[in-house]
Amino acid sequence: MAAQLIDGNALAKKIRAEVAERVAALKARGLQPGLAVVLVGDNPASQVYVKHKVNDCESTGMRSVLEKYDASLSEAELLARVHALNTDPAIHGILVQLPLPAHIDANKVIEAISPKKDVDGFSVQSAGALMIGQPGFRPCTPYGCMKMLEAVGCSPRGKRAVVIGRSNIVGKPMAMLLLQAHATVTICHSATPDLAAHTREADIVVAAVGKRNVLTADMVKPGAVVIDVGMNRNEADKLCGDVDFDGVSKVAGWITPVPGGVGPMTRAMLLVNTVESAERAAGAAV
Ligand code: GUN
Repeated sequence: MAAQLIDGNALAKKIRAEVAERVAALKARGLQPGLAVVLVGDNPASQVYVKHKVNDCESTGMRSVLEKYDASLSEAELLARVHALNTDPAIHGILVQLPLPAHIDANKVIEAISPKKDVDGFSVQSAGALMIGQPGFRPCTPYGCMKMLEAVGCSPRGKRAVVIGRSNIVGKPMAMLLLQAHATVTICHSATPDLAAHTREADIVVAAVGKRNVLTADMVKPGAVVIDVGMNRNEADKLCGDVDFDGVSKVAGWITPVPGGVGPMTRAMLLVNTVESAERAAGAAV
């Protein structure tokens, strides 16, 4: 294997330790950061995710509140909960786990979250702030990918970056963060002809499609940094990303594994956003 591994578990651990120090400093001033996680319904994957998020909070000394509701919860009831959390001074971050049941308009719920507590960074205000380079919460997955680049000393400045995928949660904010870091950015997607022609020119490739083997060894420039956001299962039901890891790791300079790459970083950046929100609240309170 030519490529070096970008160890998301190790980096996330370091970030959690830094967050724990910031939490301790806030606690010394009488403020405990608090995250509210709202889960509606019994989606098994969501149940696992929210449990991790709650455990992560506790590992750093933050408070976490898990609100679980039956799938029959109405949109109005959920909006009322969000409004109550918006005005709760003990809560600094609000995360409504997606997907929501079909009868609830997820966009409406996201927009109901106060921008001051939008630690997912999914709201129109957070997305707009990112677009025009103003302070605001960055979506946790692309924010974590940027931290991974930083950790391996890969400055995007002057580099060519290709983002595969154009979701609001990963692809688009990823491209914006890379652009803000002075990369020349191309966003590729399902209607892009000749994806390989783009990726072969790239110093940084971020694959965020949700489909196996979107990026293979012949599509990668030797030495490139490859970040795999995908989370899929192969025919043996084993977790795998969007990147053909075995092939690409022979060509790339750096590569993230799945599992143990971007996933732990997404969780770590949620803690970073939440502690930052609490620090802003503490600043405002002084
Ligand atoms: N569902 C899957 N990932 C996420 C996430 O990062 N945030 C929320 N709110 N829901 C999700």
